[in-house]
Amino acid sequence: MTSVGIDAIEIRTGSLKLDLPGTFAPAKDEDPEKYTKGLGLNASSFPDSYEDIVTMAANAAHRLMERKGLRPNDVGRIDVATESAFDNSKPVSTYVAGCLEQVNDGDFHHANKGERKFACVAATQAVDDAYNWIRAGRNRGRAALVIATDTALYARDDPGEATQGAGAVAMLIDEDPSVVEISTEQGYGSADETDFLKPQQQFPSVDGKRSMQVYLARMREALEDFESVSGDTHPDDYAYIPFHTPFPGMVRKAGLLGYRHMIRDTPVEDELAEEIGRQPRREAFGVSGQGPEASGTSSHVDEAGYEEAVREHMDALKGTDAYHEWYGNTIEPTLTISREVGNWYTGSVHVARASALQHALENGVDLAGQRLLVGSYGSGAQAEIHAETVVDGWEEEVRAFDADEQLAERYDLSFEEYEEIHDAHNHEKDTDVDPVTVPEGEFAFTGWGRMGEREYEYVN
Ligand code: CAA
Repeated sequence: MTSVGIDAIEIRTGSLKLDLPGTFAPAKDEDPEKYTKGLGLNASSFPDSYEDIVTMAANAAHRLMERKGLRPNDVGRIDVATESAFDNSKPVSTYVAGCLEQVNDGDFHHANKGERKFACVAATQAVDDAYNWIRAGRNRGRAALVIATDTALYARDDPGEATQGAGAVAMLIDEDPSVVEISTEQGYGSADETDFLKPQQQFPSVDGKRSMQVYLARMREALEDFESVSGDTHPDDYAYIPFHTPFPGMVRKAGLLGYRHMIRDTPVEDELAEEIGRQPRREAFGVSGQGPEASGTSSHVDEAGYEEAVREHMDALKGTDAYHEWYGNTIEPTLTISREVGNWYTGSVHVARASALQHALENGVDLAGQRLLVGSYGSGAQAEIHAETVVDGWEEEVRAFDADEQLAERYDLSFEEYEEIHDAHNHEKDTDVDPVTVPEGEFAFTGWGRMGEREYEYVN
């Protein structure tokens, strides 16, 4: 069977940075530790006034193509995943292809282009589409370019403002990949939910606390569905578990739930039982089914008692050395980049994977042949979990990452500059703001065309 997976990854951050504990928290009269300790964030990335979802996507894709020595004819498919699109008809991928044609010989006229939407899970779905296209043998030897790109901005003073971010991740999906091979095993947790949506509006309507509950519920369903094809998961099965990371504090909750699930009925639970007792079992409280809403038929159902017992057990589990060690090795390394950039919506889970791979390279981890469990999530809502195997040659690809340099070069905004740049990107405001950085060797937004289209140029 042909091995198909991710052959190359490029990350492109917005050029601006908002220091959350240092600049944002004081301006909001909030404790900086809400950001560093609570949400787990140090900074957000923002696009300068000449940057947007197209420039970030095209810049990431351009570097990827240059580095891999690709010509347009080598690419048979360009899919962009975004929840920040500015056109209901013309897909962002056409703009990106137009940009890339400015700097490449040849064109993408025979590449299939599209746009994928399902909140933050859409890029994972686009990777899936590319995988299926190649596995079906319809790619004619060509690779697929999948790009996640978002400006994850919230309305001013919305609680979500704390978790903003902007950036793109470009991935090349190909046969005999150089980074990870994607497995056929997949699980889904999907339900019609109203937790985070943008009904024909730029900034989201969010029920923040509910969105966190929905994330966890769908992720658990996806894990159970994944296990129905892969067999039971065990915490030692995976070198890293990159999750969709709207902010690292969300992953802290997901990691703990995942660990509790994975160690149930294993020797790890037996060993921990001496220290913190065994996990509460639904049956002991007369509770059946899979969720808090599903109760048994027994006349002694104690749903509240069960939930309280689970909460107490989770608090105890969180304090064990076994959990700390697992979390530190398997989850924490996935969060390094996210802490500095905030939420990139569709790109966020792919940033988490990149962060883990970078950590492995820096720490000399022998990763080839080891597995990753990737947990994607999109509001509205759907979680998807699949496994990947890191392949020989991954170090060379990861050595080419320049995320650290990009992050270090960002311009550090004052609060007043942040307010201006937020206004500049607000579609409802007619604010012209001079850029605070200078584009160089990159695509830049240059203005509007006769039909209201956005125009771009490569600036040397
Ligand atoms: N020191 C240490 N910790 C502190 C603190 C302090 N001084 N102050 C607050 N905290 C902790 C809080 O206890 C809380 O942690 P826990 O949840 O573990 O208790 C955390 O910091 C955040 O504090 P609040 O809950 O008070 O923050 P908030 O009310 O301002 O809102 C939020 C947080 C709901 C996540 C909000 O930022 C939001 O709405 N974000 C957008 C929605 C979102 O990201 N949802 C995530 C799931 S949906 C998804 O994943 C899709 C997507 O990408 C959007």
